[in-house]
Amino acid sequence: MIDVASFKDYRPNSNEMLSEALKGLLATPKTLPCKYFYDEKGSDLFQQICQLPEYYPTRTETLLLQSIAGEVAELIGPACQMIEYGSGSSEKMHIILEALIKPESFTAVDISKEHLLSVTKALSNEFPKLKVHAVSADFVYPFSVPEMIGHGLRVGFFPGSTIGNFTRDGAIDFLRGTREVVGPSGAMLIGLDLKKDERILHAAYNDSQGVTAAFNMNLLTRLNSELGATFNLNEFCHEAFYNSEIGRVEMHLKSLSEQTVQLGPKTISFKKNETIHTENSYKYGIDEFIELAKCAGYKTLKSWSDKDNLFGIYFLQGIS
Ligand code: TRP
Repeated sequence: MIDVASFKDYRPNSNEMLSEALKGLLATPKTLPCKYFYDEKGSDLFQQICQLPEYYPTRTETLLLQSIAGEVAELIGPACQMIEYGSGSSEKMHIILEALIKPESFTAVDISKEHLLSVTKALSNEFPKLKVHAVSADFVYPFSVPEMIGHGLRVGFFPGSTIGNFTRDGAIDFLRGTREVVGPSGAMLIGLDLKKDERILHAAYNDSQGVTAAFNMNLLTRLNSELGATFNLNEFCHEAFYNSEIGRVEMHLKSLSEQTVQLGPKTISFKKNETIHTENSYKYGIDEFIELAKCAGYKTLKSWSDKDNLFGIYFLQGIS
């Protein structure tokens, strides 16, 4: 049974997109909101990123989940209520669902409604006893999960190191917010990219086929096609590097010359080598994240990583 619990259409309209883009591009340093990465083309490019030989996180997390699924299921116990944040294709959730002991319900939360419905329908067919809910919402903002029968543990699942796309304070705020969803003694299962040799990080965000570059540049393509901006795509390039002081990979779009670009009523000037900062991907040490989770009111019951310590998975429970 699927229950489409609530649908809120968060897709920004073009007025909103114009005002947000102008705000970012007129600021110093220049920025653009990362949510605009994911139009249809961007979502497709991101799927391709996940399969790149250099992009180890998806592969490593999937293998790790397969090897720990039984242990995770033991920790969670029977009749649980799972909630996935940014469910996408739910492939990783599927690994856990197969291992869980008589799970009670699964709530998928995702911004894209079409995807959400087909994925939850398929899961509901495959796990007929599972109560499946679909909530179309941006999980960054508060949302409500349908009332569920059963007394099993509520567990939020947040894979893909998406928590690394928040700042550290943003990650703490986000985790605090999840406590409202999973309840005071509820749990979170989180996938997180770890600090490592800079060369591995550099390659993961500068792949040789240029897919990550195309994904980043797609932001400018969108501003041109949807808002009539005049970005010359040959005069900008993708730039990603590890900022070791802050412990994050930074994604930028760099202007190759001194130039101006028209966007709506404004003319935006770029110096040569000036950048638009488009995204951050924070990397953590294993203990560093345990401390962060503690600030948000969670204790780490167990953490795992692959043999090369590339990627970590954390099982957190609310300190009540
Ligand atoms: N959560 C992913 C990460 O931080 C998102 C991501 C991967 C990304 N590659 C990117 C975001 C390139 C912007 C540009 O690894």
